[in-house]
Amino acid sequence: MSYSISDFKTAGETLRVNELRQALYDAGAILMEKVLVNLHGKEHQMRRKVEAKILKPNFFRWYETEVFKKTLEETINPYLKEGKADLVDLAYRILLNLTADFSGIDRPEKSFDETERILKILRTFGKAATLGQAKGNKDAITNEIKNSLEEFNVEFFKPSKQKRLEYIERFKLGEINISELPRDILTELLRNQDKLGLSDDIILKETSFYLLAGAFTSIHTLTHAMHEIFERIKDPVQKNKVTMDPIYLQRCIHESMRLHPSSPTAMRRPTCPFHTTDGKILNKSDTLVIDLMAANRDISIFGLDANDHNPERNLPSGVPPYGLSFGKGMHACIGINLAAGILPKEGSNPANHQYGIITLTAKKLLEYGAVPDKNNPPIVDNSTVRNNWSSYPILF
Ligand code: HEM
Repeated sequence: MSYSISDFKTAGETLRVNELRQALYDAGAILMEKVLVNLHGKEHQMRRKVEAKILKPNFFRWYETEVFKKTLEETINPYLKEGKADLVDLAYRILLNLTADFSGIDRPEKSFDETERILKILRTFGKAATLGQAKGNKDAITNEIKNSLEEFNVEFFKPSKQKRLEYIERFKLGEINISELPRDILTELLRNQDKLGLSDDIILKETSFYLLAGAFTSIHTLTHAMHEIFERIKDPVQKNKVTMDPIYLQRCIHESMRLHPSSPTAMRRPTCPFHTTDGKILNKSDTLVIDLMAANRDISIFGLDANDHNPERNLPSGVPPYGLSFGKGMHACIGINLAAGILPKEGSNPANHQYGIITLTAKKLLEYGAVPDKNNPPIVDNSTVRNNWSSYPILF
């Protein structure tokens, strides 16, 4: 039986039940079998603890000010020269480069073609996450993913791994100190390989998964958010607020994240009998579908205008402005602060607030004068319930 939950409160509570295990990615085992989001219990806890180590608060400040700024400029410059871009394509390039830094995948050339090659690989990896719902020949898709994984291994993973092993060796010999080690997931996994009992193959898949989890979610989040902002700033008062107040801009982004969760559903399977709020008992062969999109538009929480983009809405205490878009409980998004930043408080200082990469990218695009290209309207991809944009031409 498949059982659906769509109200905000039950959805959040269900995601926090530790006896429910991940069920969304069963079909994508070729890439995702032993990756963090598919682990359960102690194994999940141990891996997450190691990976979360690099995500300390000082990491984000360093990342946003040192790494992000440079990567963003490098990626955006060729488009500025052209005076135009397809926002979807630009988002792929910006966010892929950012999550590659975070995952620990080097791009020695930093060229357009190199990004193109890694993007092609990543697009194939993306098929692993949605293989369960795929319409085509699943064996052919699985083979395609296998080939891409090998391509990724040879061109990007092996050299990045080798470089990090050398750093770790120099650190062990006392030639460099800890602050000189690369700050990324791959380095942490290599340093803890024995403790976590990780095979080389699992490290390859975990790194690939991070690249995917960070990039694919953020790309569509950015495009949706820019669309909501373009609509909003048609009003001159709003334009002033959005462009002058980065904390207000961050609120607009969070509101868009609520309306457009990059994963519209989460799925879980009971590991022991599970009692639903309406008296049903679910077992190991049953599936729970947690409808994040519907929960995020629950009018009992977000009000009668829940379907609208309103960054000034009043939220009940304890409800985050992005709703359940980053999940909850044991699998809650580990990259939430990187993507969404810290929630602003009364009196937060805009000069040292941590905004997250989506707000910072949107801010930069607005500073460069990005506007929709009126002669080339954007196109929605209607092939999935996500309603992502497949193309969004903009001018600078
Ligand atoms: C707007 C951007 C993002 C959104 C909307 C998002 C959303 C989510 C959601 C809903 C989950 C929970 C899945 C579930 O419960 O089954 C999740 C988990 C995860 N996310 Fe994100 N994510 C985003 C960005 C990122 C980034 C930038 C990274 C990497 C740095 C990342 C890494 C992960 C990982 C590793 C998990 C698995 C955590 C675990 O199982 O313990 N995400 N994300």
